[in-house]
Amino acid sequence: MRKPTLATQILAINALLIVATAAAAIAAARLSLDDVVGRRQALVLVAGILGMVLVNSVVLRRRFAPLDKLIDVMERIDLASPGQRADVPEADSEDVVRLVQAFNRMLGRLEDERSRTAAAVLHGQESERARVARDLHDECNQALTAVLLRLEAHVHDAPAGLQAELRETKTVAIAAMDELLRLARELRPAALDDHGLEAALRTQMQRFSDTTGVPATLRCYDPLNDLADHEQTVVYRVVQESLSNITRHARAASVVVEVGRDHGRPVVRIVDDGVGFSTLEDSDGIGLVGMRERARLARGRLQVTSAPGRGTAVELRLDRDLWLASEQEAA
Ligand SMILES: Nc1ncnc2c1ncn2[C@@H]1O[C@H](COP(=O)(O)OP(=O)(O)OP(=O)(O)O)[C@@H](O)[C@H]1O
Ligand SMILES: [Mg+2]
Repeated sequence: MRKPTLATQILAINALLIVATAAAAIAAARLSLDDVVGRRQALVLVAGILGMVLVNSVVLRRRFAPLDKLIDVMERIDLASPGQRADVPEADSEDVVRLVQAFNRMLGRLEDERSRTAAAVLHGQESERARVARDLHDECNQALTAVLLRLEAHVHDAPAGLQAELRETKTVAIAAMDELLRLARELRPAALDDHGLEAALRTQMQRFSDTTGVPATLRCYDPLNDLADHEQTVVYRVVQESLSNITRHARAASVVVEVGRDHGRPVVRIVDDGVGFSTLEDSDGIGLVGMRERARLARGRLQVTSAPGRGTAVELRLDRDLWLASEQEAA
């Protein structure tokens, strides 16, 4: 059952008090019920009580309006878009002002906690990828190398009929090794640690162009060197998945990746001139969803703009706080 509002409860209590006060006054004046009932005073008394209850109701509703507003604002705030704060200009009492301030402080603490957790999640994901990449590189790759060496040792001694078969097996093993090393490289962007974001993006794009034959241009207006490690990884991964999507779906003639800032806020844009797409209803892919999730974990936003025949643009915007700070500075 829906509980009555605070204003209704106070109104009911006040109404009871007014009626009780009137009854007490009648009793104190030693008037019998007959003295009151049927007289004009009775009408005045009832009208007076009703009037007081009405005024009380209007006043209470007005006093509680800022609270209702605050509840609306609280319900509308979306933690997925950090930086929002409750603003209730109607708050005209110390209690409501304190409530708004406490709520805003709580939002700040939640955002801090969320960004710490997000950084830890991203860090966890990356260290796990690094571990898998190391294992692939060290364990599996070495085992394949040993297989290759053995094949090579036996290929000459083997009967003529088997030699061709062994050579074929060797080619398969070499292809598997290449694939393994490619996987390890993709799992762990070592270039990011060793040479920074810009160089890592360049290497990635060069590899993309080499394998697809599609020219890819990097326009780096700002190397974004001040990004935290987990943010650089998000940028790298978003470009990686976008290039992978372009390879698989876009049939593009060219690709441009832009890295820079907008109002101090890091922005990365990956634009292709391929076939584009309209809706994702039929897609069971997780690439775009994963990119969005990564962007959100790094307090960023991902926007994908595409239309059939018009190419696709993926835009990543990071660090709302930095942006807000620079906006305030400019103002
Ligand atoms: N650059 C692009 N050009 C054309 N279509 C695209 C492009 N990027 C995404 N798409 C469309 O959006 C769909 C969803 O992409 P998403 O990356 O989420 O999944 P996927 O690439 O199909 O699978 P995966 O889970 O391996 O990434 C794709 O199937 C494709 O139809
Ligand atoms: Mg994909």
